[in-house]
Amino acid sequence: MKSRYFPLLAIAVGLTSTASSAGPGASAWSPPERQAIAAWPARKAGKPDPAIERRIAAIVAGMTLEQKVGQITQAEIRSITPAEVSQYYIGTILNGGGAWPEMNKHASVTDWTRLADAYAKAALASDMKVKVPLIWGIDAVHGNNNVYGATLYPHNIGLGAAHEPALVERIGWATAKAVRATGIGWAFAPTVAVVRNQRWGRTYESYSSDPVQAAANGAALIHGLQGTLTGDGDVLASVKHFAGDGGTWRGIDQGENRSSAANYARIDGAGYYAALDAKVQTVMISYNSWTMTGPIAHEFGKMHGNRALVTGVLKDKLRFDGLVVSDWNAIEQVSGCTTDHCPVAINAGVDVFMVPEKWKSFIANTLADVREGRVTEARIDDAVKRILRVKFRQGLFERPIAAGKFTGDAAALIDRPLAQEAVRKSAVLLKNDGALPLKAGSRILVVGAAADSFPAQAGGWSLTWQGDGTDNGDYPIGETLLGGLRRAYGDAAVTFSPDGNGLDPGKFDAVIAVLAEKPHAEMKGDVRWPEPLAQSRQYPEQAALVDRVSGKGVPVVTVLYSGRTTYATDLINHSDAFVAAFLPGTEAGALADLFGGTARRDFSARLSFAWPATACPSGGEPADETLFARGFGLSYARPAKTGRLAERAIPATCP
Ligand code: GLC
Repeated sequence: MKSRYFPLLAIAVGLTSTASSAGPGASAWSPPERQAIAAWPARKAGKPDPAIERRIAAIVAGMTLEQKVGQITQAEIRSITPAEVSQYYIGTILNGGGAWPEMNKHASVTDWTRLADAYAKAALASDMKVKVPLIWGIDAVHGNNNVYGATLYPHNIGLGAAHEPALVERIGWATAKAVRATGIGWAFAPTVAVVRNQRWGRTYESYSSDPVQAAANGAALIHGLQGTLTGDGDVLASVKHFAGDGGTWRGIDQGENRSSAANYARIDGAGYYAALDAKVQTVMISYNSWTMTGPIAHEFGKMHGNRALVTGVLKDKLRFDGLVVSDWNAIEQVSGCTTDHCPVAINAGVDVFMVPEKWKSFIANTLADVREGRVTEARIDDAVKRILRVKFRQGLFERPIAAGKFTGDAAALIDRPLAQEAVRKSAVLLKNDGALPLKAGSRILVVGAAADSFPAQAGGWSLTWQGDGTDNGDYPIGETLLGGLRRAYGDAAVTFSPDGNGLDPGKFDAVIAVLAEKPHAEMKGDVRWPEPLAQSRQYPEQAALVDRVSGKGVPVVTVLYSGRTTYATDLINHSDAFVAAFLPGTEAGALADLFGGTARRDFSARLSFAWPATACPSGGEPADETLFARGFGLSYARPAKTGRLAERAIPATCP
């Protein structure tokens, strides 16, 4: 078992020491760039391995320009064959959310490893003087979540509420094993976003609105994923998205982050200091743009074209010597660029280009860029050296991923006890005016379709990108909350009715109402201003359900599956107990252990985001918009009566 303590102090020191230099080439920067760079405290460089560096130099010296440009290109498995990997000297591939071998949603680990083997062998069959192994990246962001039969852990917003980075590290280790089971060696995780407005559709990918917590958990996951980098259960991690994804105006996905250089470094940068100290080998660049406010205001534009931040800060000031990867077609958003052509991003310091479909024309355009002087070959060489350095550090030249002991092992996809522990530690008890624990022998009415829905409890990035287009038949391993209640109280004691119609709550000892957000990912999960951010406004049928079962003289326990904190004071007032379960993953049944019954455990989680008192959050969690502060959480050991809370009107639109 990999276990390492990650000192939070390292972040505090990293962010308080004054910037000593603007890094090499300072004179090359404009005044706004110099101001931006100066805000980031310098980091000490690690020592490169001279033997590896010699091998890298020798390989690059023997590579053609075509081979170098192929090496920096990342194509998607639906758009490239193994033969093309060989023919175009492709250095890396990925599968997007909802892409599987033969596009079979139920592909087995054997199907995955067979495809991985085909791509790996093709890369080594090219006519390069020194064959370079391929790396395959996958969004394993809460377990190996794209793969049928894998254990899915709670999404990061819940793990942040556990306040236990050591748990996150264990999940990282289990996730790395699950990724290696499919023959893959690179996980696009962790996200270290520090969310300022929970309107953002990716809020649940963030551990906390507190940069120190986000950083500590991100570093812990990296330790878990990467281990020693060369072990059978180790994969590359990818800290993302550099930088400022969680701080965009009104939480608009891929939007504009407007902050001073100091706040940008202190808040959005915190996770990167921790990640680099944890020896992360890859950094993914963010879609958002950054507008520097303050004495020298400046619109830097999209991050993928921001040389001051990608090279001046990340590579020079923070001394990152791994590889920088672009996000999915993100270069098309850089001014003057297209999906398959962006010399600006190459010169900014991006090393690997995630050009899933148009990779062939990207290669052709980039070859022309070098031959026509828009990009120097030295910059391409630097990118290739970084890629080779990461591949050498992962031991790929000595031992292919296929040789790992977990490759092809379906059991390595699963760790139910760990997931159940994480579920119990990530659910926050916001209210309990006497309803919990439920006594043994209680007759329980369970309402709400989400009570028996794996898609609802797993959320986005679950088998598919949006977590949609799936049903319980796609989840062979795990337990819904309904299943957990039946396990804890007995089938006969638990009656389930998705809509509660035709049943009299008065005939039961307790009602459990399970509400949920629609699974979502990225921009599809944004709740765009001026739409109010309120569970009962977005899901009026769920509010009606709670209305129907409350006030009948029987305690109502409401459980909310959500990817964010959201206005719910009206629902809380209609409930005798209220549990924020966030997105618990495949083992939501473990929540039943917190309700009482035979396996009773106590709640321990505390909010990692403030819970809003308003449906119109202005961002930044101000006290006058807060119902429960970050750090709040009740338990049987720490009870407190909530009583009736002051509700605020949910306007038709936010002002
Ligand atoms: C997506 C996400 C990024 C993910 C990548 C590959 O757009 O922004 O987090 O790793 O594409 O799926």
